[in-house]
Amino acid sequence: MCGIIGFTGGRDAAPILIAGLKALEYRGYDSAGIAVAGKKITSVKSVGRISALEKKLDETTLVGDCGIGHTRWATHGCPTEENCHPHMSADGKFAVVHNGIIENDKELRALVRAAGIEPISDTDSEIVAHLLSLYYDGDPVVALGRTVSRLKGSFALGVLCADHPDEIYAAKMRSPLLIGYGDGTCLSSDGTAMPQSINEITVLADGQTARLTKNGATVYFRGRQVQCERTKLKSSRRAAGLSGYPHYMIKEMYEQPEAIARTISSECRGKRAGLRGTGVSLIGCGSSYNAALSCRPMLERVTGRSVDVALAGEFLYSERVPAYGRQCILLSQSGETADTISAAEEAKRRGYGTLAITNVHASTLTRTCDDYLCTRAGPEISVATTKGFTTQVAALGLLAGNEFAAAVKELPGLAEKALRASEGLKDSAVKFDNAGCVFFMGRGADYGAALEGALKLKEISYIPAIGIAAGELKHGSISLIEKGTPVIAVCTDDRLIGKSLLSIATVKTRGGFVIGVTSSPEVAAACDEAVMLPPVHPMLSAAVSVIPLQRLAYEVALRLGRDIDKPRNLAKSVTVE
Ligand code: G6P
Repeated sequence: MCGIIGFTGGRDAAPILIAGLKALEYRGYDSAGIAVAGKKITSVKSVGRISALEKKLDETTLVGDCGIGHTRWATHGCPTEENCHPHMSADGKFAVVHNGIIENDKELRALVRAAGIEPISDTDSEIVAHLLSLYYDGDPVVALGRTVSRLKGSFALGVLCADHPDEIYAAKMRSPLLIGYGDGTCLSSDGTAMPQSINEITVLADGQTARLTKNGATVYFRGRQVQCERTKLKSSRRAAGLSGYPHYMIKEMYEQPEAIARTISSECRGKRAGLRGTGVSLIGCGSSYNAALSCRPMLERVTGRSVDVALAGEFLYSERVPAYGRQCILLSQSGETADTISAAEEAKRRGYGTLAITNVHASTLTRTCDDYLCTRAGPEISVATTKGFTTQVAALGLLAGNEFAAAVKELPGLAEKALRASEGLKDSAVKFDNAGCVFFMGRGADYGAALEGALKLKEISYIPAIGIAAGELKHGSISLIEKGTPVIAVCTDDRLIGKSLLSIATVKTRGGFVIGVTSSPEVAAACDEAVMLPPVHPMLSAAVSVIPLQRLAYEVALRLGRDIDKPRNLAKSVTVE
């Protein structure tokens, strides 16, 4: 979603800001802009890709050593230049970039109007710029403190003040914000956007504000200066290049064996991070939910109890009576998904134990939960997650303990084999040229993988796809099957071969074109085409069976000429509820 970059460092800021915005592109955005402080603050904004912004920059002179930039994923108002950040105060004194949502926007808008200022955009963020100028009496840090005391909701703010053209001001509440130090000082919502000259970071805490100069930063909490920890900016937090691959998605798919191996070999978890309590709920959104669902049978086996799997956005509204000792395991690749963070907060309010499984240790979710287990997949740039999903399955395998230890150890090697087996899918993509709707079906752990396969296809090819429990197909959805409808049948559990054969026959009788993803030669023989997987533990199989589904989505999207790493309307981490 929205991304923030800021830089002050005694050298031309604009190229550094543009490079930072490019590194933030993967989060998903629909417009972008930068502002630089020179004799006055000047800004350039553009709807669409950063390349469009760069073109505009060629025609404008933005000179200054200090600036802020933003990629915007529209929430309040359409993606237009007016709504694009940085937003200026009416007097031109302040420029603001903002991530998050100001919940009392209406009330503050009225306040600004009462002061004689007419906002020019539909955004909540613009109001912050006007408040800053209303509360300004010479010290921007004081104005920022007064402003944020009026804000409800979540925000990461980067601010320029025309009177202090070499400083950036920052504030953070429930939306991540980092300060980077090195040759110059940087502000960013994401470590991956920091320039190479930055080698240390401070992760700002909720309620903190900061003043950044080219030599460092001063951090404040409730108006008083505070000391902040600096940590090394690990190279693993920086976005690596494409290393010869045409897209991040395919690169990250091929990184899966190594990423899973990292997750399981050098465990990174809190002291008490394990399965505990009288019952378990698994909670996540999107692919994280699918990963959780695929592991339900395994966790039911080890806990001997039924395991709830909940969508984070729905968990908030469940009417469950607090059960003493329940453990909520919250899965999130980014650790910044607003629904999942709210679910963690709600779980804590209800007195449940909370455990975060995330790929980003320094994330809001890790800080919110009682304990954590990191997946260590490395930065994921493609909006459509791949290694994020498979490492989550591996992490849940770790939690499942001894009974699954041997099967977990095999996962990297099996993922490698699945990658090779998937290469033939390049030729199958042609079958999807005229597909109206595609089905992915499976049972047990294969059902979670099927949901994820359908999600991958929808995300990057824009072809309607339905992930369905194989037994459910006949209860309605089968009416959509007609001649040539592609159906992907996932079957990795030998105990379910008979039932899978039946489902496949039912589809084929109606003219469906079935692609099997299976370790059973018998199932493969019943399909029109098949990807042969190596045998895999049926309760951990999603980490392997999903790989051909990722590849299929990739090949179909490639044929259709889609923007694979940055699909339309999507954001890498959705930081609004
Ligand atoms: C967004 C992404 C999905 C992702 C979901 C959950 O919607 O586009 O790909 O699965 O968020 O993300 P998380 O970081 O919490 O796993």
